[in-house]
Amino acid sequence: MSASATAAAEPISARAEGPLSGIARVPGDKSISHRSVMLGGLAVGETRITGLLEGEDVLATAAALRQLGASVERDPAGTWRVSGVGLGGLAEPADVLDMGNSGTAARLLLGILAGHPIRCFMTGDASLRSRPMKRVTDPLCAMGARIECREGGRLPLMIEGAEPVLPITYELPVPSAQVKSAVLLAGLMSRGETAVIESVDTRDHTERMLTHFGGTVTREAIAGGGARIAVLGEPELTAADILVPADPSSAAFPMVAALIVPGSEVQMPNIGMNPTRTGLIATLRDMGGDIEISNERIAGGEPVADLTVRHSALKGIEVPPERAASMIDEYPVLSVAAACAEGRTVMRGVGELRVKECDRIAAMKDGLIANGVTVEDGPDWMIVEGRPGDIVGGAPVATHLDHRIAMSFYVLSLVTKKPVTVDDAAPIRTSFPNFLELMRGIGAQ
Ligand code: S3P
Repeated sequence: MSASATAAAEPISARAEGPLSGIARVPGDKSISHRSVMLGGLAVGETRITGLLEGEDVLATAAALRQLGASVERDPAGTWRVSGVGLGGLAEPADVLDMGNSGTAARLLLGILAGHPIRCFMTGDASLRSRPMKRVTDPLCAMGARIECREGGRLPLMIEGAEPVLPITYELPVPSAQVKSAVLLAGLMSRGETAVIESVDTRDHTERMLTHFGGTVTREAIAGGGARIAVLGEPELTAADILVPADPSSAAFPMVAALIVPGSEVQMPNIGMNPTRTGLIATLRDMGGDIEISNERIAGGEPVADLTVRHSALKGIEVPPERAASMIDEYPVLSVAAACAEGRTVMRGVGELRVKECDRIAAMKDGLIANGVTVEDGPDWMIVEGRPGDIVGGAPVATHLDHRIAMSFYVLSLVTKKPVTVDDAAPIRTSFPNFLELMRGIGAQ
């Protein structure tokens, strides 16, 4: 939803009268979709994107790139065509850039804008305006950009790009692919090498796609964990076709639904299996989940596979904290799986969940407790006591403008004794516009 729009809330609830079955065709990966529009907008020539996620978050990125001078259009067959302006060629927009609900759109675009000598104003919806931007504005200012934020480093903000852009080596203070990407993207416009050091691996879609467009990216593993990732400035970025795999973070919802609804078997083709994104699958398998991976292949530079997920008796586990970055968006729906598992599930090292579209630890805890599940939490941890087959439900849940909270409680409602009412389904359109249709297609009511 745009910064200024106010719309009536759309409450939803769900039931499963029998097993879920059939094929769930999950839409395109959000992270890859944002990057394909942004890099397409910076490259020379026409980039054709197949399978782009047409959710509100990515549409916000597309609108911003248009305001900055790129051409971003969908052809009647559903292929998106982006004609780029060439590196450094973005033009000052006549109006504020509204990034809606999307932290990825805002933070990655700030990296790009930091390398352009133009002045831009950026805002977002109430959720995005409450999220921390200092994590990107600090390194971008060190590279020479001038940025004025609201109190506390929040949007709206004004950014004036650096000229020249200073190449830096930046050690990530938080494990964040958005911050890593912002610095690397700004580094494209510098004369020299810009490096980011991360202590745990975060998603590497920016690096893969930059290479695909002809950029020079190097990655050196650091003994004991993590890596140094560097880009060489002023590359020739050339348009390249992109095939977007289905989003593993969206697949997580029908996946957990199939695991917890008795008798279910659901197929999910073409799911992104980038190792920086598959922590949830490993965790659900550790919990006893029957997730079959077949037809593993590389498509458009990213690993993909077909999944078959069957109902399973789950058991609670200690989730390895070092897995957090590879499943950071999946903890809300993991906590639903944990509520349906025998025993306790312990999630540690997840403090970043407090600064997502909402405070996800608080939102999941409140909603689960209201529906009869015992949850404890601390600054960066959460413990869920499972009640398989015995969750009362019946209580309303607040979405807090967070798509993943809405979809998680929709999934929980499939197995509670009384339905759970999610107060607002509208945020689901940011990442998974056909979610309700897809869930109905596999048998949810
Ligand atoms: C994303 C990175 C992650 C993730 C977000 C998408 C990306 O955020 O939660 O949904 O596309 O780079 P952080 O960088 O804040 O961890």
